[in-house]
Amino acid sequence: MRSRAVGDIERLVHAAGAGDGVLAESIESIGAEAVARIVMAEVVDRADLRGCPPVAVSFRLRTEGTITEMIVDKSGSGVTAHPATAAAASRTDATVEQSLVEVVRGVFGPRGAGSSATRVLRWRDIDGPESFGRPALAFEPVRRLLDSIDRPYHTSLAEWCVRSGSDKWGVHQYPQHYERHFDPIRDRPLTILEIGVGGYDDPHRGGESLRMWKRYFPRAAIFGLDIVDKTALSTPRLTVLQGDQSSATDLERVVRATGPLDIIIDDGSHISAHVITAFHTLFPALRDGGVYVVEDLQTSYWPHFGGKSGAYNDISTSMGFLKAMLDGLNHEEIDGREPAPTDAAIKGMHFYHNMAFLEKGENRDGGAPSWLSRI
Ligand SMILES: C[S@@+](CC[C@H](N)C(=O)[O-])C[C@H]1O[C@@H](n2cnc3c(N)ncnc32)[C@H](O)[C@@H]1O
Repeated sequence: MRSRAVGDIERLVHAAGAGDGVLAESIESIGAEAVARIVMAEVVDRADLRGCPPVAVSFRLRTEGTITEMIVDKSGSGVTAHPATAAAASRTDATVEQSLVEVVRGVFGPRGAGSSATRVLRWRDIDGPESFGRPALAFEPVRRLLDSIDRPYHTSLAEWCVRSGSDKWGVHQYPQHYERHFDPIRDRPLTILEIGVGGYDDPHRGGESLRMWKRYFPRAAIFGLDIVDKTALSTPRLTVLQGDQSSATDLERVVRATGPLDIIIDDGSHISAHVITAFHTLFPALRDGGVYVVEDLQTSYWPHFGGKSGAYNDISTSMGFLKAMLDGLNHEEIDGREPAPTDAAIKGMHFYHNMAFLEKGENRDGGAPSWLSRI
């Protein structure tokens, strides 16, 4: 069952894609303060104020007749967003006043839906010579905070990789391929599962790529799965589950928690038998139009991972298994073919260095005319 907080975020994400009236109604029923907390936590996460000087910024978020004030506070110990107290509000470097509907739409809305029409930004004492340095120091962190509302689709996947510490860029060169497939759907309210959280035996390490996906897909619900208990790495919009990808029972439990999936990424054990079990169990949970990705396919040629160095087409290896499905794309053209369950359910397969993308969908375009000679 979804927690209340997760349900509220999902509701806001969907309402942010609808008209102002629907969004205002959702805000009213969740409560302006709860919405302000949700949205400012997201803004702070995306703004990534590392490297910025200490700063305090007040966000005065307007709804019909009321203002909810939140303070973003960056100090030596981290960044927080909390409801304002009178004392904290009097010490801020800048004040942003804006309609809450507009802020929620900017943060959780589809590409191009945001606006800053109702925004007023004021710097503290910018005219006083003694305080001139202070607002100037605040310019960069406030820019980052506002960009995370106004331009959530501006940062590339490779940049989020570097900022989140994921090895998908650098050690690997995966973002170019991911962006080719994911950029057109980046602003949809997707459900995404990645097997392999990272950090191996340490329960508090890992999560780099999950944080990257959370920032790259601003409207998505992100799930991570690892054999090690890393559930403590969960944050709003990002849920970490524990389970073994070689166990169909574990994976069925995972799907009960996630519901139908739009994207599945296998970056787990990279053992061929595990890759194959995960595919068989999870592919049925992928929606039509969804994408199944397998990373690090070099292990298919390495015996240490259950691969085979000399038998490229052996179906017990992950590459051999995937290649066997390729002919299924043309299943309607092949006389006497033993049908495979994926034949009519895979619309496209794309292979790149060490990774594959499979597109799920009805593959029944119809074969060539029967009168055309086949022999
Ligand atoms: C390569 S790391 C994942 C890196 C992460 N996806 C990233 O890009 O930042 C592989 C992770 O898979 C996990 N793992 C290994 N065997 C597994 C299994 N059988 N089921 C689920 N997770 C597994 C490991 O604990 C490790 O944290």
